[in-house]
Amino acid sequence: MNLKKPIDVLVAESAESGEGTLKRTLSNRSLVALGIGAIIGAGLFSLTGIAAAEHAGPAVTLSFVLAAVGCAFAGLCYAEFASMIPVAGSAYTYSYATMGEFMAWIIGWDLVLEYALGAATVGVSWSGYFNKLLHEFGLELPTYLSRTFAEGEGGGINLPAVIIVSLLSLLLMRGTKESASLNNFLVVVKVAVVLLFIGLGWKFINPAYHTPYIPENTGVRGQFGISGIASGAALVFFAFIGFDAVSTAAQEAKNPQKGMPIGILGSLAVCTVLYVLFAHVMTGLVPFEIFKGDASPAATAFKVTGYSWLQMGLIIAILAGYTSVILVMLMGQSRVFYTMSKDGLLPKFFGSIHAKYRTPYKTNLFFMVFVSLFAGFVPVTDLGHMVSIGTLLAFSLVCIGVMILRKTDPDRPRPFRTPLVPLVPILGIIVCVYLMAALPIEAWIRLTIWMALGVAIYFFYGKGNSVLGRKNKQG
Ligand code: ALA
Repeated sequence: MNLKKPIDVLVAESAESGEGTLKRTLSNRSLVALGIGAIIGAGLFSLTGIAAAEHAGPAVTLSFVLAAVGCAFAGLCYAEFASMIPVAGSAYTYSYATMGEFMAWIIGWDLVLEYALGAATVGVSWSGYFNKLLHEFGLELPTYLSRTFAEGEGGGINLPAVIIVSLLSLLLMRGTKESASLNNFLVVVKVAVVLLFIGLGWKFINPAYHTPYIPENTGVRGQFGISGIASGAALVFFAFIGFDAVSTAAQEAKNPQKGMPIGILGSLAVCTVLYVLFAHVMTGLVPFEIFKGDASPAATAFKVTGYSWLQMGLIIAILAGYTSVILVMLMGQSRVFYTMSKDGLLPKFFGSIHAKYRTPYKTNLFFMVFVSLFAGFVPVTDLGHMVSIGTLLAFSLVCIGVMILRKTDPDRPRPFRTPLVPLVPILGIIVCVYLMAALPIEAWIRLTIWMALGVAIYFFYGKGNSVLGRKNKQG
């Protein structure tokens, strides 16, 4: 039987307070900051250069717009759900109410790819910039401590990535409020550096580098021209991942009905504007071909401005930016597992809350180890592809969920309504599937293996232990 969790039960659960529950501490502003915290990171500071050099040229700005439009469709669907069912757990929870327990489990399991592996991916990029910073000070880590063994001779473990993931996990155990405060600070630093880059760089734009704005296609699909803009979009999609992390904090929002749509759509809108301006300046400072193979294109472009004393600051701010992405991803992950454990689909271990700090500390500890293993030993490209494919799958399922719930429960109050249903969710699915198709076959194989493992765990553990399933049997 396909069990669905009644929405009334979900809403009542979210209204519970006191010991053993999460604390409502996040204002609307904190929610937008949380979103921006999860969004601006490796996608902007690292991938923009690759997308410009290999796919779109200056028109990488249009790639950002295209990816943003796709995310906006999914974001509008997320916003309807998040305002209607303001419970921790994100897409997992929404599907429990709409598509039943099995699909909910599938999504929750899939979200590990987005959040846990997302944190690992950005952890590895963090490590790259950290090594660059050490280099500025004349220091160098040995290769066996700065690269995974899979990345060629001399490699061993990516130690800085493991350290940053562990430190942030410890912080999360200490408290949501403390973590949100650090995040607010990091977001300010991150947005400041983006604005500074745009503001200082603008007057150095050389229009010659922007001509032609859309370089002619080389004859190979995806290499410049219109198809290049689309390929660039598949790549920079990574830069938008994270806006949905806002919905994982619904249970900690002071006013989730209003706060959720503001948090999700607000952060998405702010980031899109910043991305387009940033990319426009970046490709205007130097010929875009220069970015080929460059892991820190923003720093390369910025040199042209002559503000060389700002270089170091730029690297530090980028590190701060990455830190906040990792923090929010780790937090989102622990909240999803917390909720799944409360529902009985995962062991109680994941749902236990620290008596004093009121955080799901055991889950944080578990993911500290899990994410560290990936960050320490798996190459960044493999991680990135897994994150994108997992996220796109979750987005598609959320779009489907909105359409289902409009049919099965049309009268329930929706503080925020997705416009033009079913057009918007259908367009959302089309864009997600299109972007998934652009990913390599290995990513599809790994996705299949990961999901098969999830299905096995559900049938061996979750199905028999589900709280809802047990209630139903008794009733
Ligand atoms: N959007 C996040 C980033 O670009 C995942 O780092």
